[in-house]
Amino acid sequence: SNTEKTVEERLLNICELLETHIDYYNWVGFYFRNGDKEELHLGPYVGTPTDHTVIPFGKGICGQVAVSNENFVVPDVAAQDNYIACSITVKAEIVIPIFVNGENIGQIDIDSNTPDPFTETDERFLEFVCAKVATILP
Ligand code: SME
Repeated sequence: SNTEKTVEERLLNICELLETHIDYYNWVGFYFRNGDKEELHLGPYVGTPTDHTVIPFGKGICGQVAVSNENFVVPDVAAQDNYIACSITVKAEIVIPIFVNGENIGQIDIDSNTPDPFTETDERFLEFVCAKVATILP
């Protein structure tokens, strides 16, 4: 029988690894662009289930990254007006885009229950993770 992991299982494993080993990573998930539609769809994640499984481009931190193609580090989510709250425990968020052939095809999204926890080390590390993820996508 085929015991190879699926891409979904690999992505879930990455979420689990990050959430388990970095104490201020409390919700870790992937969003991917839905074909030619200007919306993001939730992929594998770990943490509190979210109602926001589809996010239009431009909406929330995730939707803004879909348009800007830039990292978005939010030290204090309460100070953002274009923010989609998934859980009241969340204090900070980081979203890093995933590029395939130079195209922004999705992102890793991490919420923290700790205020202002993310540094440039997180950005460089998560850019590395996203570059690796780009190589395993179908
Ligand atoms: N906070 C995000 C929505 C996704 S939840 O964090 C899982 C946003 O503002 O886009």
